[in-house]
Amino acid sequence: MERPKPDSGEGKTIMSKLHAGVVLLILGLAGAGVELWGKSGAFRPVALAGNEMPAGAPGSASSGHLNRASKSFDVMKSSSFRMLVDPLAPPPQTIDKPVEQVRKNIQVLKGLPDSQLFPLMNVVGDSLGVHCDYCHVTQGPDPATGRDRWSYERDDKPAKGRAREMMKMVLDINKTSFGGNQLVTCYSCHRGTTRVQQVVPLPPVDFTLPGTERKRAALPTAEQLLNDYVKSVWGQNAGTNLKTIVYKLVVERSQGRTNAVWQQILPTTQEIMIKGSDKYLVRITTPQGVITQAVNGSVGWISDNKGSRELSAAEVEQLKRNALLYAAVKMVEQPAQMTVLGLEKLGDRDAYVVSVTARPQTTTKYFFDAQTGLLLRKLTTTSTLLAPLPEQIDYEDYRDVGGVKFPFTIRTSEGAAFVTRTRKFTEVKINISVDDAVFKMPANQKQ
Ligand code: HEC
Ligand code: HEC
Repeated sequence: MERPKPDSGEGKTIMSKLHAGVVLLILGLAGAGVELWGKSGAFRPVALAGNEMPAGAPGSASSGHLNRASKSFDVMKSSSFRMLVDPLAPPPQTIDKPVEQVRKNIQVLKGLPDSQLFPLMNVVGDSLGVHCDYCHVTQGPDPATGRDRWSYERDDKPAKGRAREMMKMVLDINKTSFGGNQLVTCYSCHRGTTRVQQVVPLPPVDFTLPGTERKRAALPTAEQLLNDYVKSVWGQNAGTNLKTIVYKLVVERSQGRTNAVWQQILPTTQEIMIKGSDKYLVRITTPQGVITQAVNGSVGWISDNKGSRELSAAEVEQLKRNALLYAAVKMVEQPAQMTVLGLEKLGDRDAYVVSVTARPQTTTKYFFDAQTGLLLRKLTTTSTLLAPLPEQIDYEDYRDVGGVKFPFTIRTSEGAAFVTRTRKFTEVKINISVDDAVFKMPANQKQ
């Protein structure tokens, strides 16, 4: 179902933005979700699925007790592509007022940063299995732009009032019964529907029968899981010979975002090149032409058919985070930072779940296939006033390329349906020769 994009009522194309000198990040096209429109119509990056690269909590990277696994992890560091960004650096400063100062009719969510309001509303809708119009009033599409005109502040619909009460209840339950931890959310009860279940499903399972009880099996250590992961990606050679990776892929957006503005920035194909540990390039073919963005050591740039410019430090950082999606080994954390939570079902697979808390507000869970050892999912949650905001990367369809395992499908998603992106790789090549010159910014620099 279509969800409106906050304040995105302007139709400038990505190209004009490139030259308008606004904070530009088409990085989202290459990597995972990036909030393309901020309040003023400027591109505004937010940390989203696939862009998170938490690692190296203090003292962990080289804390001596990594024994058996440490060799692999050194290899992970040196020959998997990973330009290390400081994972504990505070996120870029954004001017972010409390929502009650920006919006017209906030009674419960006071203190929530305004940038979190829409992501949270998406999650509220997802939890109940409804669209925004279940609670909010719309006046139909604006004839000029074709976009829906919403009056979010209005309280006409009873569901909105009910939702307010529920929000108060959730804040209260977590405070009084769960020590302020955000354990109960709308989803805990609603499970994707407005009808909340009261009765257990019958006939009941007979838990005296063998195999019915969910017993706690002995779990592997984080170190074993990481070791298995690295080995299953690289085989016994531990990837020491991985010099370049070149991908061709098609990026599919989920259904739902059909208006003209989004169509304009819909990339169809991409080419990605990785060389050594500090060179990364993404070439995006859009209906308007080709856009290239790259990181070359500490420098980043972006270019299209009208010119090029250097990226800001924050943009370079973001691009590096995106790059991790395409590294052979897709995580940078060390075992000492991880807690093994248990075995869970992921579709028809059994997966070991490991969690890392990089910052107080942010938790990442990795799901490793219990049979193959490969990484199946990365789920990052950021807690907010009301409920955690999830961002997920799913790695699917692993295939062997010259002895290295690559997922041939990568899907990134978060609360809003239209943000889901599925990257399908049409070609993956390793160790083909890629000239260093490719990563240099084209000379015709403007601005
Ligand atoms: C289940 C009901 C429900 C759904 C679904 C829902 N909202 Fe809300 N929304 C609320 C409630 C309740 C408030 C007021 C919160 C408060 O008073 O603190 C609110 C407030 C807002 C506001 C602030 C309005 C103002 O000016 O005061 C915006 C904007 C908003 N929602 C957008 C959305 C969007 C976009 C969606 C769909 C992605 C959505 N909402 C889905 C219940 C809902
Ligand atoms: C502790 C369980 C629980 C939690 C948590 C919970 N709800 Fe509910 N909710 C219910 C129950 C039970 C009903 C049905 C009440 C009824 O039938 O009158 C309900 C009904 C609703 C309805 C009315 C649905 C309809 O029939 O139109 C809305 C809207 C709603 N909840 C929103 C929310 C939102 C938003 C959250 C999170 C902020 C939330 N709920 C969290 C239990 C919960």
